[in-house]
Amino acid sequence: MKHFLILPLLAFVLFSCSKRTAILDPILNPVNGILRDLPLQSPKSTLKDMPFKVGASVSAELLRSNPEYRALVMKEFSSLTAENAMKFWALHPEENTYNWKDADEIVDFAKANGKRMHGHTLNWFEVPGWVTNFSGDTTAWENLMRTHIQTVVTHFKGRVSSWDVVNEAIDENGGYRNNIWLQKLGISYIDKAFQYAHEADPNALLFYNDYGHDYSPIKRTAILNLVNGLKERGVPINGIGLQFHTRYNQPDADITSAITSAAATGLLVHISELDMTVNPNSDKNLTYTATLAEQQAAKYKFIVKTYYAIPKAQQFGITTWNVTDGDSWIPGTYNRPDWPLPFDANYKRKPAYQGILDGVK
Ligand code: XIL
Repeated sequence: MKHFLILPLLAFVLFSCSKRTAILDPILNPVNGILRDLPLQSPKSTLKDMPFKVGASVSAELLRSNPEYRALVMKEFSSLTAENAMKFWALHPEENTYNWKDADEIVDFAKANGKRMHGHTLNWFEVPGWVTNFSGDTTAWENLMRTHIQTVVTHFKGRVSSWDVVNEAIDENGGYRNNIWLQKLGISYIDKAFQYAHEADPNALLFYNDYGHDYSPIKRTAILNLVNGLKERGVPINGIGLQFHTRYNQPDADITSAITSAAATGLLVHISELDMTVNPNSDKNLTYTATLAEQQAAKYKFIVKTYYAIPKAQQFGITTWNVTDGDSWIPGTYNRPDWPLPFDANYKRKPAYQGILDGVK
């Protein structure tokens, strides 16, 4: 008799568990690996439902080869930036060679899935060997820079709607970074880069992008002076990109200063490369505790809340740099364990994800 009861009971338990899973959208707790139900605003909400665009920087290789990564990007984000595929060395590795494959794949993926495509970056200090070794007078250098910018912008015209035109032109002391462009062309290279990009696609929104707004008042001031100067001279600039490779314990006051002072320029504001170390002292043995994950979530929330308070018309969006803790550039670059993003290496939402949603509540 008992045997007749056990089977239906088992079936009922299994059925209710699967239903519960579907409804509550369980989150794999990154801290102790147990399943828990993270109470999302509504079971169906994703980052796509935020009141401004939320994006991520992506890798063409991962989109091709990793179905989970691809599905997560499709599901969550409304804007994409190529992590590396549109950099000078990736697109233009030799003087007469352009390599569009990876960048085109990302742009096609964005278009097919209704996502905005943001271009990164037309001018930066990291250049391929042929540029470092190039010899020529000022006119030849101007031609080199113009040809690169205009070939790239023209190639993606109508498919890439905004560009980081100049990236990281200010150094740690607030001076102009002593890069190859400054050496060959002087400080006017910055104005020229914007003008060349604008000529090639007058509809594209053009950004100056840099880091340090959150932790270096000296650098922040120098960047704002540069950007205001561009505006005053009538250089075609539409926006400012705040990279925000930030820390879980960066004081709130610094975050507020960074975001509100950028908004005071009147330009569009893009938090363009958001990630958040929980290991700023590069401790090789650090483990990711629940406390750390919650502190990180609170800081994500504060950033989003502060950003959401600037005028709506200036909210270009927030882009995270990479997608999950598993593909973040931080651990490899700084040679340390770290967990900087809103998704864990198993593609599950972390407390930081909820922090982002909570920032606009
Ligand atoms: C980083 C990429 O994430 C790495 O894969 C690459 O090795 C180096 O560049 N600021 C920027 C980005 O503007 O382009 C950088 O991206 C991170 C810092």
